[in-house]
Amino acid sequence: MSSLARAAAIVVALATVTPSASAERLGIGRVPSPAEIAGWDIDARPDGHGLPRGQGTVAQGLKLYDSLCASCHGDFGEAVGRNPELAGGIGSLTGPDPRRTIGSYWPYAATLFDYLRRAMPFGDAQSLEIDELYALTAYTLFLNDLLPTDGRLDQDSIHRLKMPNADGFVSPDPRPEFPPKAPCMTNCTSEIRIHSRARTSDGAGGQAR
Ligand code: HEC
Repeated sequence: MSSLARAAAIVVALATVTPSASAERLGIGRVPSPAEIAGWDIDARPDGHGLPRGQGTVAQGLKLYDSLCASCHGDFGEAVGRNPELAGGIGSLTGPDPRRTIGSYWPYAATLFDYLRRAMPFGDAQSLEIDELYALTAYTLFLNDLLPTDGRLDQDSIHRLKMPNADGFVSPDPRPEFPPKAPCMTNCTSEIRIHSRARTSDGAGGQAR
């Protein structure tokens, strides 16, 4: 079987049968162990679903941040070089100089935790303990004035924290003609104009020759 056909077979197999059935039927691969699945299955959702148990404080996060994060993101989240800034800019997204930070842009604290867990520190991802991640999430929220100095986060409190941009990702369609008030359903145009025909098109943008 060609490698392409084999890849297609695997995709179909994964989509249609359970892992154990596909391993047996195709004679390839093996069933992942529960520990392997648990290693991949780490996503946390905005409502807190999937968050691991743990807790951390702003004070604990300060120490971790200074040693693991400040070299790239700055002592106060102001960014070093071309690394992203993490603090400030709240309310700037609709202005002429939008600044995308945790405070201004990030919609949920739970997904911030999730991102830190899977991606940071850059170059040494997934090296942190769960409690360290709660502490770092707390501290980066503190840098944005979203938690007090004695703030603390755990799996229950983190997703109850309302972020400034939580409602910023869905906006009404700004086009004045949408939604159309009374869409025309019959006899809508008086004139029918043919702009091009498929058989005379050169295939590049539908231009008629
Ligand atoms: C070696 C430099 C480096 C270090 C150290 C580092 N980061 Fe980052 N960080 C980056 C880069 C680069 C990105 C952007 C990655 C991307 O977009 O794929 C980033 C992205 C982020 C983001 C998302 C920013 C956004 O605009 O959405 C957060 C939050 C973050 N880092 C937090 C941390 C924390 C907390 C630590 C310490 C545990 C840390 N980083 C350590 C370089 C670093």
